[in-house]
Amino acid sequence: MQRAEKYNLPISQIYDLVSFMLHIEYSQAKNACNYEVDDKMAENILALLEERVPAAYITGRREFYGREFIVNHNTLIPRIETEILVEEVIKRYKDINNIELIDICSGSGAIGLTLMQELNISFLTLLDIDSQALQVSKHNAEKFNLKKNIEFICDDILNYTTEKKYDIVVCNPPYISEKEYGFLQEEVKKEPYHALVAEDNGLIFYKKILSNFEILCKSNGVIFFEIGAYQADSVIEYAAACSLYAECIKDYSGNDRVIVVTNSKRGI
Ligand SMILES: C[S@@+](CC[C@H](N)C(=O)[O-])C[C@H]1O[C@@H](n2cnc3c(N)ncnc32)[C@H](O)[C@@H]1O
Repeated sequence: MQRAEKYNLPISQIYDLVSFMLHIEYSQAKNACNYEVDDKMAENILALLEERVPAAYITGRREFYGREFIVNHNTLIPRIETEILVEEVIKRYKDINNIELIDICSGSGAIGLTLMQELNISFLTLLDIDSQALQVSKHNAEKFNLKKNIEFICDDILNYTTEKKYDIVVCNPPYISEKEYGFLQEEVKKEPYHALVAEDNGLIFYKKILSNFEILCKSNGVIFFEIGAYQADSVIEYAAACSLYAECIKDYSGNDRVIVVTNSKRGI
């Protein structure tokens, strides 16, 4: 545990590694001093940390909004900041029935599958370009016993068209520019490049989805985007150019984090 501390991991990730290594519950990890450690396994884990492999790829799991999601090197590791988007959707839709929702760029399914369990969703689409990431989201759906009224679409949202319209579109797209990629921590660079980096200075997905607002959304539909800390102005400006209304929500660190978009002022 002391040697793991040198990798600057948050304490939650150290406990996760300990519970994984000792095959014990996360809640027991804090008091695990008297457990016998499998030295070979411990050395393997430390070697992976030395190579800057993220803890979640070692344990194959990450907690998101109070539930443990399966992750692997094909999926982005769900981030705590993304819970802001989830909270915002729940706040606005907790009393609404029969919601149809699409999670675009769904990765492990963290956003869509969480909302399926928190809201009254009658139909959920998870869409991702990466078939292996989509496979992980299928395993997560099974894990949470979500078997009905879900479809998994493997497609490129930049060339996607659909007959079906949704009440809610949620999307945490890749939004890092190629230039910013160079400054990322080594652990982050272990995540799939195509899950992180987007063309047009990180904005291509927002622009494409906003241009397709009428195709994706029902008349009262709403889009919820996660954004990078400096992207709010560009996304709001582009929404206005598409005759849409946008609002920015900050995260707990005070950074711009979520953009909510509607086609009339009443939705905001
Ligand atoms: C930032 S990750 C978000 C994953 C998940 N929604 C989350 O919040 O943890 C972006 C996801 O977009 C997917 N993606 C990248 N390019 C795409 C495209 N052109 N069409 C659809 N999905 C794409 C990646 O495979 C990746 O799973």
